[in-house]
Amino acid sequence: MKVIIGCDHAGFSLKTQVKALLKNLGHTVEDAGCHSEDSVDYPVYGKVVATGVAKGEFAKGILICGSGLGMSMVANRFPGVRAALCNDLYSAHLSRQHNDANVLVMGGRLIGGDLAEEIVRTWLTTEFEGGRHEGRIAQLDEI
Ligand code: RB5
Repeated sequence: MKVIIGCDHAGFSLKTQVKALLKNLGHTVEDAGCHSEDSVDYPVYGKVVATGVAKGEFAKGILICGSGLGMSMVANRFPGVRAALCNDLYSAHLSRQHNDANVLVMGGRLIGGDLAEEIVRTWLTTEFEGGRHEGRIAQLDEI
């Protein structure tokens, strides 16, 4: 799968770990930055990832900032992007099954690397359930 990943300084460490996991799992990974723990502005990197997904250039996106909140706000401004802040496994599961989330957001200051890896594995392998959820997704796009 083609995945684009991005972060700010608060998510840099976790992004490095998640990027390695994605490669180990055989995914093609585009790193949108940032590339160090020097302070940056999360909208810059959130925009790159969200645009890549919105344009269909990448099947999925992953964003990491300190809390995950800022990145979620940025990504969900882009039509066609359904970004889900998931700092637990159940949210990761449901965001795919019910919401067909195409961007996963995590808070690098809130969760550890092991949990984040499990969240990523769950999120990438859980299928959208369709059915009654299809119409709700369509309503999101109409808004
Ligand atoms: C950076 O200090 C922090 O504000 C950012 O990573 C993110 O948590 C914003 O929502």
